[in-house]
Amino acid sequence: MWNCPEIRLNWEAGKKIMADIYELGALAEPLCLWYRENKRSMPWRESPSPYHVWLSEIMLQQTRIEAAKAYYERFIKRLPDVEALAGVPEEELLKLWEGLGYYNRARNLRKAAGLVMERYGGELPADYDLLLELPGIGRYTAGAIASIAYNIPAPAVDGNVLRVAMRYLDCGDDISRASVRTKLERSLLAVIPEDCPGEFNQAIMELGEVICIPGGEPLCGRCPLAGDCLGKRHGRQSERPFRPAKKDRRIEERTVLILLRENRVALRRRPGKGLLAGMWEFPSLEGSLSLSALNEYLREKQVKAEALYPLENAKHIFSHVEWHMCGYVVELPSGQTQDIVPELVWAGKKELQEQYAVPVAFHSFLRQISSKNGILQD
Ligand code: ADE
Repeated sequence: MWNCPEIRLNWEAGKKIMADIYELGALAEPLCLWYRENKRSMPWRESPSPYHVWLSEIMLQQTRIEAAKAYYERFIKRLPDVEALAGVPEEELLKLWEGLGYYNRARNLRKAAGLVMERYGGELPADYDLLLELPGIGRYTAGAIASIAYNIPAPAVDGNVLRVAMRYLDCGDDISRASVRTKLERSLLAVIPEDCPGEFNQAIMELGEVICIPGGEPLCGRCPLAGDCLGKRHGRQSERPFRPAKKDRRIEERTVLILLRENRVALRRRPGKGLLAGMWEFPSLEGSLSLSALNEYLREKQVKAEALYPLENAKHIFSHVEWHMCGYVVELPSGQTQDIVPELVWAGKKELQEQYAVPVAFHSFLRQISSKNGILQD
């Protein structure tokens, strides 16, 4: 009998690969047709250069599309290309990023821009693996840049794509597992159209943003994939994707001090490592101090405040920690040089607007003091 062990070997390997792939069938065509008719206008879509796509994708990892538009326009106006980004001073970069949060993303953008200047003369490489070597560019971003800017068939799996795929497949795999994402990337690679990979990737993302929306009920009546969607067929679309409940976040209570002197407010730099590393903040004390406890604290430090009054409490949620903050304005007399906490800088309204990037966690206090008459006027 004719025997060909090599073929048998390939067959086994093939079966293994097939077993480790999600069967996405024929979703590309209806998806791309829908996208062509329905795609939203976004500033970075007007001229999807590699730099524009890169910047927009990093911003979209921080905020919603509508909010990202204004940040993007301002950023591009000031830093129109990789060279400008590579040369911008860090303080100015962080100011442009202020409000977007997770400032290491901005620092990585600049670091990567420097490398792109050095290694590639200012052009992002048209190569998925080389893109991955740059700081801050992970598999999602590399896939987005490669496919949207360079038409390279590469998957770009974000939360939207995971949700659309798991519903379409009615699959209960845990999407917080890295292996599920890897398997989806492999599966997408098999169905990405070679002639329009960027369109395909953006189409799934966009479907996840406007039709196959998170939480509640997706808008299946308007979905181009509804006919083949197993989640819909089985009535399980709202149960997908599956993700185990998150652990509770740690709660940290802090007392934030808005120290005012001669129409300037005190800021200090956070440590170079950890949460909001290197950012400017209002000084704060551990715990939630009452007005009288704070009075006592100031007396011990021999600080004579001209006025001391509370602000509204504020809360900020990070991925693993929640800050529950109470805030006080401490107005100090002009001659007061005693530093309540060490290493303060005193910023006036102009410096706050143009120079120091204060993280969103403190914006509620910033708003409260800015709206009060006589505080931080020009
Ligand atoms: N979300 C993130 N990036 C996107 C893109 N390029 N198109 C649509 N939605 C997105």
